Amino acid sequence: MTRLYEDDAELYDIAFDWDISAEADWLVERLQATTVLEPGCGGGRMLEALADRGCQVVGFDRSPRMVEISRRRLGARGEVFEADMTHFDLGRTFDGAVCPINTLLHLSPAELGRHLHWTARHLERRARYLVQVGLVVADQEPFAGSHWEASRGETSVKVDWVDEELDVVQGVSRQRSRIEVLAGPRAGEIVEEVHVMTAWTPATWTGAIEASPFELVATYDGGTSGEWPRVDSTATGGLLWHELAL
Ligand SMILES: C[S@@+](CC[C@H](N)C(=O)[O-])C[C@H]1O[C@@H](n2cnc3c(N)ncnc32)[C@H](O)[C@@H]1O
Repeated sequence: MTRLYEDDAELYDIAFDWDISAEADWLVERLQATTVLEPGCGGGRMLEALADRGCQVVGFDRSPRMVEISRRRLGARGEVFEADMTHFDLGRTFDGAVCPINTLLHLSPAELGRHLHWTARHLERRARYLVQVGLVVADQEPFAGSHWEASRGETSVKVDWVDEELDVVQGVSRQRSRIEVLAGPRAGEIVEEVHVMTAWTPATWTGAIEASPFELVATYDGGTSGEWPRVDSTATGGLLWHELAL
């Protein structure tokens, strides 16, 4: 299990807690759903944003620390469970589901297949599943990476997230995250980790969706600030949103 999602989940939650209000508005409009599920919900930032917009939200995560943070954040505004995305049974269905910020890249192709199977069983007919999954092409250089600073209370952190290695043929990328605590009780600490993720191309991703109970309805570019223009299914980029329907 990734340390950043376990022992250092609090730091992850601070590092990724940027303003997602415009994105949440857009998601709510696309989903047209009252009840929304978020598999791999982490610290619940998206669950909270969706709950603030009137959705009844349910999330789950494999990390007990993330579940704890989500529950603390949401209080009575939503439910959060400990469960695995590759095999889960919540005993109910939803009108829509979301999975932001490349969470699905943590799953191997076989695991993604199982995840889509189980997610489909939790959705009503015509429900949308909006997933944010970056796509790459064979001759592509690794992305330069993302670098930013974030703070909450006394704690401030500097984050570097870099693609170290991209093997499109094997469908694997190695991404290094480095979080340096600049201020607060843990000032001076550095949390560094390598994440082995699946690298999808437009072709392999489309094939994986075709082999699932879902169809790919549309793809949107989530990298342009404040706008989510529709793009072709052959588009590449780190922050693409894919609209899946049953
Ligand atoms: C990149 S974080 C994103 C969290 C959240 N979706 C967000 O937007 O902030 C990925 C999350 O997926 C969870 N995760 C990874 N593999 C999982 C699995 N097989 N089942 C459930 N959760 C998983 C991790 O514990 C982590 O909280």
